[in-house]
Amino acid sequence: MSLYQSDLHLQFPPGFVWGVATSAFQIEGAALEDGKGESIWDRFCRVPGAIADASNGDVACDHYHRLDSDLDMIAGLGVDLYRFSVSWPRVQPLGSGEWSEAGLAFYDRLVDGLLARGLAPHLTLNHWDLPQALQDKGGWAARDTMHRFVDYALGIQRRLGDRLAAITTHNEPWVVAMLGHDTGNFAPGIKDRGIALQVAHHLMVSHGMVLKALRAEGAKAKLGIVLNLAPAEPATDSEADIARARLDDAKGRRWYTDPLFKGRYPQEAWDDFGADVPAIQPGDMELISQPLDYLGVNYYTRHVASAGEPYDASKRGLPTTDMGWEIYPRGLTDLLLTLHRDYDLPATYITENGGAFPDPVVDGTVHDADRTDYLRTHIAAVAAAMKAGVPMAGYMVWSLMDNFEWASGYAKRFGIVHVDYATQQRTLKDSARWLQGLTAAVRQHRLGNKGA
Ligand code: FCB
Repeated sequence: MSLYQSDLHLQFPPGFVWGVATSAFQIEGAALEDGKGESIWDRFCRVPGAIADASNGDVACDHYHRLDSDLDMIAGLGVDLYRFSVSWPRVQPLGSGEWSEAGLAFYDRLVDGLLARGLAPHLTLNHWDLPQALQDKGGWAARDTMHRFVDYALGIQRRLGDRLAAITTHNEPWVVAMLGHDTGNFAPGIKDRGIALQVAHHLMVSHGMVLKALRAEGAKAKLGIVLNLAPAEPATDSEADIARARLDDAKGRRWYTDPLFKGRYPQEAWDDFGADVPAIQPGDMELISQPLDYLGVNYYTRHVASAGEPYDASKRGLPTTDMGWEIYPRGLTDLLLTLHRDYDLPATYITENGGAFPDPVVDGTVHDADRTDYLRTHIAAVAAAMKAGVPMAGYMVWSLMDNFEWASGYAKRFGIVHVDYATQQRTLKDSARWLQGLTAAVRQHRLGNKGA
């Protein structure tokens, strides 16, 4: 019997697509095999104290060696697409110059394997694992890295571009910039706000450069970017909290969306960043604001802004995930409506949404009702936004399977498939069975629609 009992799917048009997402560093392992170069995350994992459980990505889900059975598993979920990323140092070990044939061949097999199973490949170029050799030359803080990124993107398009449905330039530039270079909690572990904002600027400019370059060579795939976004809401209705929410929204969200859709940085954030604002060269803002084929939105929780004590959902007894993130599906509707109000949105995908929960395996399975609830309520939140006119095109679950959750290591489990890291055994959780039910209902609905 299917665990799926709902008419949720009926709220979406037949063309709306469903998928699951992962990223290279979080699942592949084979960190130093077949000539792969070192990435900044390989390096960062070696820093004592950087990763909560002192783990690394050397083996991860061993996906590199389990490609075919993992692809079967994805196909078994009944989804339309798979969102994955390419490890840049696996295909171009030093980030410039020589390419690795073994690395390219792996992604060739991945893409062909998806197509053979009727799955659309959605490829991300930068899901954070920059070649360490480029970091040694300044990383994303250096303008030269933007040109290396364009060469890399062109190499990927020449090799795989005829078979890809979508190419995303960057995953979550805010995270790379701020967690990687301001707080230093993520690779490369730098703590300097001025550098962080220069990095953010270079990520956005390089995004535009790649769109231009791929289109000039006749890109067949749809081209876009993925942002982590949250609605910023005041903790109370005090003037101070409301002002803080406005400012946080400008610095965390509009700092990325205004340049993309309006070709300029939000003035109030610019003023607040003071001496830390980035150096901009002529033409940069025109590059950033190249037209997008799609926008990808990653949503996990809302942001609650407070001028006083930081807001803590768990201290207030509100429901949170294992990450301590408040479970707040309405925030997703609010966010999408705000984006739709402020900008002329292209096709918009939820490229990541999901929750970490402790997930004990009991009798060979995982009863993750909390995760299923999380997914169901957030999908309903997408439907609500779509009904209000937001051009929603698809929804992807984070994540296909439990994996290396960056600075949290392996302790936080986001998968709808459980991974036993000692044996690499994969076990479908109840949430995966629920998704199977949903995609089966979607297929039936599509058939019905065709007949009509
Ligand atoms: C996002 C990342 C993704 C995953 C989720 C939980 O910020 O894009 O790789 O770690 O968070």
